[in-house]
Amino acid sequence: MIVTTADLYKVAYEKFAIGAYNINNAEQTMGLFRGCIQSKAPFIIQISKGARKYTDKRMLEAIIRSAGEIFPEAIYAVHLDHGDEETCYDCIDSGFYSSVMIDASHAPFDENIAITKRVVDRAHAKGISVEAELGQLGGVEEDIVVAEGHACLTNPDEVVEFIQRTGCDSLAAAIGTSHGAYKFKGQQSLHFDVIEKIRDKVKAAGLPPTPIVMHGSSSVPKSEVERINAAGGKLDPSACGVNEDEYLPAAKLGVTKINIDTDGRLVWTRVHREYFRDKPQEFDFRPPGKIFMDEYATFIARKNEKLGSAGTLDEVRESLAVAV
Ligand code: G3H
Ligand code: 13P
Ligand code: ZN
Repeated sequence: MIVTTADLYKVAYEKFAIGAYNINNAEQTMGLFRGCIQSKAPFIIQISKGARKYTDKRMLEAIIRSAGEIFPEAIYAVHLDHGDEETCYDCIDSGFYSSVMIDASHAPFDENIAITKRVVDRAHAKGISVEAELGQLGGVEEDIVVAEGHACLTNPDEVVEFIQRTGCDSLAAAIGTSHGAYKFKGQQSLHFDVIEKIRDKVKAAGLPPTPIVMHGSSSVPKSEVERINAAGGKLDPSACGVNEDEYLPAAKLGVTKINIDTDGRLVWTRVHREYFRDKPQEFDFRPPGKIFMDEYATFIARKNEKLGSAGTLDEVRESLAVAV
């Protein structure tokens, strides 16, 4: 059942984080639904601009609708990941999305606010919530590349004004992560001080709780990188991501949506490289596709345990029933 992103946030805020997983095709979608059912977790399906172009945006919507019929017990929201203004309006008007992200974080503060406010006005008129970004992550987002030196953490002193002037419902904050497989050099941690300051300033200003969104949250397991390279891959062995044991402490401070894409891509790459290395005579894509769906479901279920969302489906169902 598709629910609003706001409903999921209400149950999870300061308790656990909802996994927001990007999808691009049917196999990923099947693995995602299976993994969330296995672990009894609510989830957010994320669709990027690139994913909407990969086959066709209508194809993804149809895949999600079908998955909803195959798994009627699933509870999830559908979200546009890293939208520009035009794509946000397209998703708002489609009536299919629970929430959109307007990513105008590359623009100066006032321009970011103006763009975000226009999207919020259009979205709220249709009951759709909006995630906005303040501060800049390092790494690659669609066609925007942010060099490591230019990534800047969210300034907690700007947060209250940003939320008040835009009316956004959740805040994508730069708290030390970046997109992709190469996030950290050596042993680094999330900036818990920044998360805490953001949460406290919002509370002190008397604003309603504003869930914080963590982008670039993949953990990039060493074992996955090693297996990919042992099967012919050439990933930089220094690839490194977020410590999964930091998800839950961050969630308790208000990080309510945790975005994961890269880790799922690593599962896909490992499964397919190992399959064709071990069976070089094969050319049917279904056998590795089946392995991938199983492995992806296992990966999702495990990730939900780390996020604290595993086992919360009944609580979410009850809270939705009360809300009706
Ligand atoms: O943050 C970006 C997400 O990982 C989506 O990636 O734009 O290549 O689909 P994509
Ligand atoms: P990762 O690259 O760490 O998986 O981050 C994904 C993301 O933030 C999608 O918006
Ligand atoms: Zn992102």
